[in-house]
Amino acid sequence: MLKFNKDGKFGILLFGDIHEKPDYRESPKFRDMQKLMNASLDYYKPDLCVLLGDIFDTEICKENPEKFLEGINDLCLPMTSRGIPVAAIMGNHEHDPGCDEAVIGAYSKLGGVMMRCEGVPGKADYKELLYSSDGKRPLAALWFLDSNNLCDDERVSKYDWVHEDQIEWFEKESAKLREINGGEPMPAYIFQHIPIPEEYELLRRARPFEIPLSVEGFGKHGGKRYVKVPGASGYLGEGPCSPDFNSGQFESWKKTGGVKAAFFGHDHLNDFSGYVDDIFIAQHKTAGFRAYTDGCHSCVRYVEISEENPERFRQELKHFKDFGLRSESLGPVMRNFTDRQVMAVHSLNYCACAIACAGLLTYFVKEIFRKRRD
Ligand SMILES: [Fe+2]
Ligand SMILES: [Fe+2]
Repeated sequence: MLKFNKDGKFGILLFGDIHEKPDYRESPKFRDMQKLMNASLDYYKPDLCVLLGDIFDTEICKENPEKFLEGINDLCLPMTSRGIPVAAIMGNHEHDPGCDEAVIGAYSKLGGVMMRCEGVPGKADYKELLYSSDGKRPLAALWFLDSNNLCDDERVSKYDWVHEDQIEWFEKESAKLREINGGEPMPAYIFQHIPIPEEYELLRRARPFEIPLSVEGFGKHGGKRYVKVPGASGYLGEGPCSPDFNSGQFESWKKTGGVKAAFFGHDHLNDFSGYVDDIFIAQHKTAGFRAYTDGCHSCVRYVEISEENPERFRQELKHFKDFGLRSESLGPVMRNFTDRQVMAVHSLNYCACAIACAGLLTYFVKEIFRKRRD
């Protein structure tokens, strides 16, 4: 049973897209990821950890299930050995080898780790109720949703989404929770791998002078450059890879009521967040060093829900370097730069270029006038 701690809080630590591989024992990248995991667990002492999908190479699960089990067990050890429960969700790569049942079975076999199919058969959608500190009543619901893999028809979308039957299950369960919550929607927090298309509402098209610091959109947003809207915070390092098709999941959250925040993985560089129609949307980047990153950017996100008002929460990001850690796997340059610093360097470069261009332009204009005068 998950319940608020004695301080009337419930802390959740998120680890995005770790992408660990079977050769992890010899890998400095694995050691770096474990350093981040251990440091963040000691710092935040969370009540729950969430693995946001794309966790461990699942091809090995098909070839050698025992080795896969050993790998995910070792990956989860910093959390399970501290007695902290872990909720694991399916990312697109968990679906890759086409042995979903074996993958879900392996995670659910690990002591202290959750992953199960509660609704639509074969989909790893489940929820956990968050009880009051005395354990007497449920005050909030945590939803762990399976956003599937790739779309069958690439002309529609590259990535898949949470399907209509899964949304139906969510709505039915939410209605039951509303009943036990005295007719009011139960505060809900969503954890899911592939982001919803509405994430683009936290972005806007870049103006010409913003193009150097913008990112190109993904899928149907391709060919256009984006920056964050003023209300959004965090880092935008790549075009969010949400599906092009909208299955109505966000509309369902608004209709059901109760959803306070949704946290997504899948994009390895992005950690921006903000409100869309009063629902907090947070894109969470990788906590690993295996996935594509551009330097010392790996980070964790801490979310703390309050028992006094379970509709309220606070959240923050903490990067590898913020814990005073030193990377073994990155080169001397990337080891010392976080994405914020890279962005600052980029901004300085662009400012320097802009000043230089303005200087040259002034010089040429002056020259033209001087020649005309002569
Ligand atoms: Fe990933
Ligand atoms: Fe992914």
